[in-house]
Amino acid sequence: MELPFAESYKIKMVETIRKSTREEREKWIKEAHYNLFNLKSDYVFIDLLTDSGTGAMSDKQWGAMMEGDESYAGARSYYNLKNSIKDVTGFDYFLPTHQGRAAENVLFSSIIKEGDVLPGNSHFDTTKGHIEFRKAHAVDCTIAEAKDTTAEIPFKGNIDLTLLEDVLKKYPKEKIPCIVLTVTNNTAGGQPVSMENIKGVSALAKQYGVKLLFDSARFAENAYFIKTREKGYQDKSIVEICNEMFSHADFMTMSSKKDAIVNMGGFVAFRNEKDWEACQMYNIMFEGFITYGGMSGRDMNALAQGLKEGTDFNYLETRIGQVAYLGKKLDEYGIPYQRPAGGHAIFVDAKKILTNVPKEQFVAQTLGIELYIEGGVRGVEIGALLADRDPDTRENRYPALELLRLAIPRRVYTNNHMDYIAAALKNVYDRRESITKGYVIKKELPIMRHFTVELDKA
Ligand code: F0G
Repeated sequence: MELPFAESYKIKMVETIRKSTREEREKWIKEAHYNLFNLKSDYVFIDLLTDSGTGAMSDKQWGAMMEGDESYAGARSYYNLKNSIKDVTGFDYFLPTHQGRAAENVLFSSIIKEGDVLPGNSHFDTTKGHIEFRKAHAVDCTIAEAKDTTAEIPFKGNIDLTLLEDVLKKYPKEKIPCIVLTVTNNTAGGQPVSMENIKGVSALAKQYGVKLLFDSARFAENAYFIKTREKGYQDKSIVEICNEMFSHADFMTMSSKKDAIVNMGGFVAFRNEKDWEACQMYNIMFEGFITYGGMSGRDMNALAQGLKEGTDFNYLETRIGQVAYLGKKLDEYGIPYQRPAGGHAIFVDAKKILTNVPKEQFVAQTLGIELYIEGGVRGVEIGALLADRDPDTRENRYPALELLRLAIPRRVYTNNHMDYIAAALKNVYDRRESITKGYVIKKELPIMRHFTVELDKA
């Protein structure tokens, strides 16, 4: 008999989570102005809001924290982290930051000026926010298939090289500080980018004399997909694949809260010394001295260890296998989602489920609220609320897809939890025809409104 799949770790510490009643949840979500970000976490049974900073650290990471060196400058922990980054990415230079968006802030302060253009594959919202805040433009060149949730293709996060070249031809290179390649492509569904595509993007970058930045939050998951899906990589280790991926980049921004399995932390890494030096001033101003920038010594130690664990094949197989397991359950119930299952999350196709809710009433948000009321499961909207308003016209932007992201924290939940999530979603799915009304905005901020928006029933 073939041995079944099993987790590559065992559990040493647990945290109690509490179930609630439907009546309680109806009251709580109303008090939260129908914004899932406004809920107390104690009111959530299974929390799939994000996989960012929500992972479970290992015994080795907690042990490393005890050995953190809290020296202001030149701490041992900094050098531990430097070595770990070098091993996994090949980059010689880096600046620690408190999280991913801080890394973006430091790098973009140095390289972006008003009117610049940054082509990429579905820039993440904080990345786009940092670009637009500097009055520059993010141009999305993701392949068209990414918008068809039924298209079962292995590298749905890729950049369309023709679209990219059009942008590179249209603007002088002085106006393009870099191309932003997000691995994996979060917004398109945690979908990977192939090595072939990375090479293609890199060749165009060189041809047109522009730099290439990797937004690397989920780089290890991307490497896992290359190993398991792309010809020629089956026999390479994850670290070898990561090194090859990064060999094509000039710099990387990292939210360590994802694939490095820490609760807080990030960094920018650089190929050349000059780029590193140019960013130091901003790191000192916004984050801290260049050998700790926003992180304590113990946190740098945990991160150094987390980078090793996050690039372990057995761990990645367990992690991505769990996301695929949830996908299979949804298949059994006929629930549509962005196919194939992503690395860190399932992106449920809300538009195909709540066909009676008008797009102006926030379809994916409505599905998210229904799932919470049904089972205390908290997902996050990736739809019109997140897409925000056009910065010039201030009109609402309605993206092609309305998705409810169910992000799976690393090493936190079991497959019984996955069964529970799927059952709760099935119950909503079964009564989908009766859901005809969504929500309208009561109050919003001018940028990144989805975090704090207040809604009313339509
Ligand atoms: N880039 C990507 C691709 C991300 O997914 C995120 C964060 C960031 C950058 C910013 O990093 O949060 O450490 O400042 N994504 C989280 C999410 C918040 O839920 O997907 P950060």
